[in-house]
Amino acid sequence: MRDFAKLRSLVLLAVAVSLVGCSSFSQAQKTPGSADGQHWWQSAVFYEVYPRSFADGNGDGIGDLKGIESKLDYLEQLGVDAIWITPCYPSPQVDFGYDVSDYENIDPTYGTLADFDRLVEAAKKHHIRIIMDFVINHTSDRHPWFLDSKSSRTSAHRDWYIWRDGRANRQPPNNWISGFGGSAWKFDPSTGQYYYHYFATAQPDLNWRNPAVENAMFDVTRFWYKHGVSGFRLDAVDLLLEDPKLHDNPILPGKDEMGSPNMLNKYNDKLPENHQVLRRLRSVADESDAVLVGETYTDSASELKEYYGAHNDEIQLPMDFMFCTVDKLSAPAFRKQIALAESTGGWPTYVIGNHDMSRSYVRYGDGKHNDQIAKLMAAMYLTLRGTPIMYYGEEIGMENNDPTRKEDVKDPMGITGWPKYKGRDGERTPMQWNGSANAGFTTGKPWLPVPSSAKEKNVESEWKDPNSILQFYRQLLMLHHRNVALRDGDYVALNQDDPNVLAYLRQYKKDAVLVALNMSGTAQQVSFNLSAEGFTSPKASTILTTLKHAPGDRIDQIALEPFAVYIAQVSP
Ligand code: NOJ
Repeated sequence: MRDFAKLRSLVLLAVAVSLVGCSSFSQAQKTPGSADGQHWWQSAVFYEVYPRSFADGNGDGIGDLKGIESKLDYLEQLGVDAIWITPCYPSPQVDFGYDVSDYENIDPTYGTLADFDRLVEAAKKHHIRIIMDFVINHTSDRHPWFLDSKSSRTSAHRDWYIWRDGRANRQPPNNWISGFGGSAWKFDPSTGQYYYHYFATAQPDLNWRNPAVENAMFDVTRFWYKHGVSGFRLDAVDLLLEDPKLHDNPILPGKDEMGSPNMLNKYNDKLPENHQVLRRLRSVADESDAVLVGETYTDSASELKEYYGAHNDEIQLPMDFMFCTVDKLSAPAFRKQIALAESTGGWPTYVIGNHDMSRSYVRYGDGKHNDQIAKLMAAMYLTLRGTPIMYYGEEIGMENNDPTRKEDVKDPMGITGWPKYKGRDGERTPMQWNGSANAGFTTGKPWLPVPSSAKEKNVESEWKDPNSILQFYRQLLMLHHRNVALRDGDYVALNQDDPNVLAYLRQYKKDAVLVALNMSGTAQQVSFNLSAEGFTSPKASTILTTLKHAPGDRIDQIALEPFAVYIAQVSP
């Protein structure tokens, strides 16, 4: 599924936090070294930065690279190991950077290539790696390749994009629908043909069947590896190739939120040939020991499994969006999703939010206990086996600030989808650094408005509050790095019939951590029997909890308050 509009819709208490074993850390510390054979990206915590909205270094109301650099101390102290920066290449900004007009430079709004190099160096000093966003499926219609392609039917770059004659009566070549609404084909009167664009008309799809495109795009990755990036997040990677015969897609009943007929994208999504490209892209990445993170919208375990590659030779970190499209706080639903990710045999990659879906704080919050639920969600995905990717602001409980008038909408999807779908501006608002007028994001007028909740939900005030969401994240990140079982242990599902409490063991040799998460709004009593895991008389010692009173060392009678988090080290 690649329907952000749909994704949106799908998708404690006065907390006494105790952090036994970690309380002596004054700052988050880095992974001292992982289990044998682990790669750096397996023990790392990734953090998505939307550069327009993170920190504004020059007061123009739009975030930039200097702004990011100024926040490296914060990111290091939070415990982040790698930042994924969404596209900051030169771009007309029709889709806020996902329409690239030059892959080998930086958009002046964000700075210069020299600023980027400085950022990489500074980040290294903070033990933070940089991951770029590789917009691999399409370019901007202002990219010189497309301008040349469009100039004539015989131009050197004509076949770099997908051009076709229309059908009779000025009908597009087939019935494919754009994810941004309307036909996926645009007629170009100067050459009398249509070009294909899965996204906006200003984002023509590259023709990945043309080896010249592949060579040029692979060279782009080499360019950035030389500039010190540690990998790429691959944008829209399911959509690289299309059926050359352009068969019509089957139409499904109903309409989507953009007003288009529902469609099964059988001929333009997840074609088997995509994997050949991915294998070759991975070989290039391997030359630089780089990681590939995939924007992989899968519908089943087998689809997700395929993205790792038959020989682990494709994407190391394909994001599991099935996990975050669980649309309610439900222990059975998350248990099932985790089992599905585990069943692929690959290393899971969990996210609970990003710049294309409503913020997790509102998606899972019940309106009354949102802070507790934000901690609960964090405790889940940061203690599972796998690599978590955080979204900026999630750690302070940022909420959506959706536009209320069409004239304020910036996102092209919101402009087309209004009023049914208000677009993605709401989840892209400025990072909330402090309680001042623009939340400390800019001295100018922010490009998107800051919500009034920024007065309490901001880094400065939460940093000082030991019970804040932010401090809870810091503690979780420390555990994620320092605790051997959480870092390297197996995932063992516990009490699998419990409708309210999601519980599991993370077990690495004799080290084990028990995680119990009450996903309900009522108090729960839980009891664990770990004899099958080799624990004959287990003793628990609390590591991190939101319970007002940490329970004793018995695991056969634990009382969990509503939405409680309980994490304990277990000894045999
Ligand atoms: C996925 C990106 O996450 C989204 O923001 C963008 O609009 C599309 N790809 C098109 O590049």
